[in-house]
Amino acid sequence: MADQRSILEFAILFLLFQSAFGQQVPLSSGTELIALYNLRSSLGLRSKDWPRKVDPCSQWAGVQCQNGRVVGINISGFKRTRLGRQNPQFSVDALANLTLLATFNASGFLLPGSIPDWFGQRLGALQVLDLRSCSVIGSIPSSLGNLTTLSSLYLSDNRLAGIIPTTLVQLSRLSVLELSQNSLTGPIPSSFSSLVNLTFLDLSSNFLSGPIPPALGTLSNLQILNLSSNSLSSPIPVQLGDLSQLVDLDLSSNSLSGSFPSDLKGLKRLKKVVVGNNFLVGTLPENLFSSLTQLQYLALNGNNFSGSLPDFLWSRPELRFLDISNNNFTGIIPSLSSNANATTAVFNISQNQFYGTLTSLIGRFSSIDLSSNYFQGQVPATLRNVSLRDNCLQNVEKQRSLEDCRSFYARRGLSFDNFGVPNLAQPPLSGQSQKSNKQLKYILAGVFGGLGFIVLLVFVIIMILRTCQRTVVAQRGIGVGPVPAGGSTPPAGVSINFSNLGEKFTYEQLLRATGDFSDSNMIKHGHSGNLFRGMLEGGIPIVIKRIDVRSLKKDSYMVELDLFSRVSHTRLVPLLGHCLEHENEKLLVYKYMPNGDLSSSLFRKTNSEDDSLQSLDWITRLKIATGAAEGLSYLHHECTPPIVHRDVQASSILLDDKFEVRLGSLSEACSQEGDTHQNVITRLLRLPQ
Ligand SMILES: *[C@@H]1O[C@H](CO)[C@@H](O)[C@H](O)[C@H]1NC(C)=O
Ligand SMILES: *[C@@H]1O[C@H](CO)[C@@H](O)[C@H](O)[C@H]1NC(C)=O
Ligand SMILES: *[C@@H]1O[C@H](CO)[C@@H](O)[C@H](O)[C@H]1NC(C)=O
Ligand SMILES: *[C@@H]1O[C@H](CO)[C@@H](O)[C@H](O)[C@H]1NC(C)=O
Ligand SMILES: *[C@@H]1O[C@H](CO)[C@@H](O)[C@H](O)[C@H]1NC(C)=O
Ligand SMILES: *[C@@H]1O[C@H](CO)[C@@H](O)[C@H](O)[C@H]1NC(C)=O
Ligand SMILES: *[C@@H]1O[C@H](CO)[C@@H](O)[C@H](O)[C@H]1NC(C)=O
Ligand SMILES: *[C@@H]1O[C@H](CO)[C@@H](O)[C@H](O)[C@H]1NC(C)=O
Ligand SMILES: *[C@@H]1O[C@H](CO)[C@@H](O)[C@H](O)[C@H]1NC(C)=O
Ligand SMILES: *[C@@H]1O[C@H](CO)[C@@H](O)[C@H](O)[C@H]1NC(C)=O
Ligand SMILES: *[C@@H]1O[C@H](CO)[C@@H](O)[C@H](O)[C@H]1NC(C)=O
Repeated sequence: MADQRSILEFAILFLLFQSAFGQQVPLSSGTELIALYNLRSSLGLRSKDWPRKVDPCSQWAGVQCQNGRVVGINISGFKRTRLGRQNPQFSVDALANLTLLATFNASGFLLPGSIPDWFGQRLGALQVLDLRSCSVIGSIPSSLGNLTTLSSLYLSDNRLAGIIPTTLVQLSRLSVLELSQNSLTGPIPSSFSSLVNLTFLDLSSNFLSGPIPPALGTLSNLQILNLSSNSLSSPIPVQLGDLSQLVDLDLSSNSLSGSFPSDLKGLKRLKKVVVGNNFLVGTLPENLFSSLTQLQYLALNGNNFSGSLPDFLWSRPELRFLDISNNNFTGIIPSLSSNANATTAVFNISQNQFYGTLTSLIGRFSSIDLSSNYFQGQVPATLRNVSLRDNCLQNVEKQRSLEDCRSFYARRGLSFDNFGVPNLAQPPLSGQSQKSNKQLKYILAGVFGGLGFIVLLVFVIIMILRTCQRTVVAQRGIGVGPVPAGGSTPPAGVSINFSNLGEKFTYEQLLRATGDFSDSNMIKHGHSGNLFRGMLEGGIPIVIKRIDVRSLKKDSYMVELDLFSRVSHTRLVPLLGHCLEHENEKLLVYKYMPNGDLSSSLFRKTNSEDDSLQSLDWITRLKIATGAAEGLSYLHHECTPPIVHRDVQASSILLDDKFEVRLGSLSEACSQEGDTHQNVITRLLRLPQ
């Protein structure tokens, strides 16, 4: 009884199994059999693949049937008979009688001819058409738009020319459209935006021109967008930020302009971003990359990006490849403690304007190209697979010239280590042989220095008076002219051009630089903010003004930023950057002036005999006086609108390493009210004591 039941169960199971997985139903349509034989001979297929006198559904390679009807043909990878090879043709007329054909795959099989126009009318069941690398010529027939059941269309790596027919827009089920590596011209049809089921759009390596249609942003299922190597010219549309499923974005090697839109920060799934070799400019928005947590591959090379590289990109463990070579990036390598392992990360930051010293961070890359920048100092011993050419590094071959390095660092108001060689331009150390000579110099300096300085001051005063008169006359002449912008806080909403204001530092960076604004780093209490000395990660000394906006007039720092954004002159203390991210504290970063201000240089304590800086010789005094005059003359006269320095005194005349004057206290330079030019002059006169 039990046995009988189990035999019955087995029989039923066997029947079920056979109908599902067993022997193919043989081809039941005579028309289709003839069609297959016709196709066999027109394409010159070998009897090895499609043998005679057997059932095609079960015995022919690449023929797929359903219920005795042909639904798929895959001749990809097939070879032709010798006869077929002699005259290969795109002759597939017989396909027209396979009325249920859903898949035709001929990739890699030579079909040197054009896609027949009747494909659109006769292959009404086609879902997948793969003609990759078939040497197809001619244009894409617009009738393909009739294949409304099509879900995948692969035509890449052929010799298709002409435009992309707009009729393809009717392929509403299309999920994959690959037309790359052809010679297609004309624009990308903006009506593509209605192909809502597209997940893969590859139009790369053609000659497409015109803009990237902003409407592509509506393709909400798109995962891969590759428009590289065309002649597209437009900004990157911000609408691409709506492609929430996007994983790969390749827009490289076009003529795209504008900046990198921060709107892309919503693309949380992005893994690969390639926009190299375009004409993109501007700085990278810091907040953009911090939200792209999946990003593994980023290529921005061969553009004109500037500003610093967001810290985030240096330390992100997921980022395996970064190429920002051949741009205009600047800044230093942060000394972040990266929690990333010495991964397989490959970075290329060559041909930019990076500077400062090499920090331990670069040890984490399996390969890093630092060539053609301005790094200085020593190379950490542990580095491997690093390219260092054309920098300013010590004891490394093939570096830039001394002149090149010096002028780069000087232009930015930074100090260059001179390849580690002591700088000959600095005052020589005093030795016995020079002593008597030096004493004589001091006597002469004492006598003539004072005299010379007074003479010069008179000269300066005359210059300033003249300048002022001209300024006053000019302003009266204008009458109700514009209020000098320097005279007041820029009205709320006025935008300051931050590109002239140096680097954007993070608050944390500046905390580290000053030891959390420790008292020992405090230089002085200023009434527009306290000054601290600090050291950036690249070993660059700086001075930071810490402005507490709660105790000061809210926008006082904006006045100074506004000034720096408009004027620049070698006689003004260089602003290296700023940090405005903290709500209550605004930080301005200046170049550090090794020789302090004039008052400390003039009244330097002279108890040590060997102090080579104990007195300013009169040539230096002359230099300082002319320098101050030049600076004031610039503020008063050359820059528009003119600016009056309200606080000129010895402490705001700063001296760099070569005793060149850099005027400081520029926040005080901005106001005209409550001051007279006589005031300035009397203050200057008070100087020599
Ligand atoms: C198509 O045919 C080739 C050659 O027979 C075979 O290698 C390949 O796996 C087939 N592809 C598909 C998708 O069936
Ligand atoms: C399709 O089949 C019909 C009838 O069997 C035949 O007359 C016609 O020639 C076939 N067409 C092609 C292109 O083979
Ligand atoms: C066509 O065949 C090739 C080779 O077998 C295969 O790699 C490719 O994925 C197939 N195309 C489609 C759309 O399945
Ligand atoms: C097929 O496409 C062509 C050109 O796009 C069009 O003229 C024709 O009416 C279409 N035929 C059908 C059956 O839809
Ligand atoms: C898009 O694809 C989904 C699922 O694959 C399908 O249900 C829907 O009908 C498609 N939309 C169009 C317009 O074909
Ligand atoms: C885009 O297509 C090109 C070839 O046309 C290819 O080299 C490149 O890898 C593709 N980009 C991505 C991100 O896949
Ligand atoms: C790069 O941009 C700057 C302005 O930001 C411009 O002065 C410079 O000419 C540009 N360089 C190139 C090679 O396009
Ligand atoms: C880095 O990029 C430059 C210019 O784009 C290129 O010449 C160089 O070969 C790249 N370095 C490496 C190691 O790939
Ligand atoms: C780099 O940027 C600076 C300032 O924006 C500009 O003057 C300079 O021309 C740029 N260099 C290049 C090579 O584009
Ligand atoms: C570093 O490597 C260790 C072991 O190889 C692994 O457990 C750890 O997750 C890695 N950390 C990161 C940040 O990749
Ligand atoms: C150096 O980097 C290159 C890629 O930039 C890589 O192919 C090579 O394997 C690396 N060599 C070593 C020793 O890590």
